Amino acid sequence: MIFTDFPVITTALKAAVRAPSPHNTQPWFFEVGAEEIEVHLDEDRVLRVCDPDGREAWLACGAALLNIELAIAAARRLSSTELLPDPARPSLLARVELGGRHRTSAEELRLAAAIPRRYSNRRPFADQKVPAHLRVAAELAARTEGAWLLMVDEAGLLEATASLIRRADHLLAQDDAYQAESRAWTTGHGRDDGVPASAGGPRPAGGLLPVRHFHESEVSRPFEQDPVVAVLTTSDDRPQTRLRAGRAMQRVLLSATMAGLSASFYSQPMEIASTRAELRELIGGDRYPQTLFRLGYGYPGVPTPRRPLEAVVRERPRPE
Ligand SMILES: Cc1cc2nc3c(=O)[nH]c(=O)nc-3n(C[C@H](O)[C@H](O)[C@H](O)COP(=O)(O)O)c2cc1C
Repeated sequence: MIFTDFPVITTALKAAVRAPSPHNTQPWFFEVGAEEIEVHLDEDRVLRVCDPDGREAWLACGAALLNIELAIAAARRLSSTELLPDPARPSLLARVELGGRHRTSAEELRLAAAIPRRYSNRRPFADQKVPAHLRVAAELAARTEGAWLLMVDEAGLLEATASLIRRADHLLAQDDAYQAESRAWTTGHGRDDGVPASAGGPRPAGGLLPVRHFHESEVSRPFEQDPVVAVLTTSDDRPQTRLRAGRAMQRVLLSATMAGLSASFYSQPMEIASTRAELRELIGGDRYPQTLFRLGYGYPGVPTPRRPLEAVVRERPRPE
């Protein structure tokens, strides 16, 4: 089977690879049949230092999964998804099977159209307030996928969260292994993965939040005065829940894109066990923080590259 003979499958795979992933590692591969796509974790692309248990890679694969589902829905086909369908195949995270005809909703069409337009924007955002209805829409997007989006807008909580991000950023800056890993995925990495210089932002001139520095920028600029910071949380931290959290993260990012908003991540406190635990306590202690980002009105940036489909798609081996 040549997968490109199946247009819906090809469209869904092109959407899948546009998902965000830590350091643009694209930690996935896909096994396809005429009517199904399996999403697999590529262990060789999990960041050993900043993501030792692969949690962020699972989030990325969850995001790729939502893109597949939306692209299939936008192509007017039903689909059904099973998470972790086969304990004997640990790399297999999810299987999506195509079904019959589907009456696509306007929302599905808009979300699918946002997939190629979404990208991480590390530049300063405009000092323009994000209206309440868009914040509610982002919260609802997370709820649709069984997660929660906590807007960190109470002044004391925002300052405490920002201070935790700064502390984690400082600790990571002193960790040689972490810095080496980050450099390996930025400077001089392959041309179709890793974070290119064009995706970086200036250093914040003062301000509350430190943007992660992938490239040593000499330029510093003021960032927005009143950032909208959001933490995506889940009720537990099981593998299936991480996949669902990835879906929720992506639905939030796509609905933000749809509304003309930009986002950029602040994973520093998630990448040290003690600061992740502190963040959990800060937000009340019962839910698990999965990812943290800021939302706002950004100036246009540049999308990052992806590996070609041929590098990430394998034909599904036929059963004996
Ligand atoms: C779980 C996760 C954590 C991330 N953490 C950070 C981060 O801390 N800082 C950052 O600048 N980008 C972060 N990113 C964004 C990735 O670097 C980005 O998705 C990748 O380079 C692909 O670029 P794109 O989002 O523009 O498509 C994260 C992405 C994911 C999925």
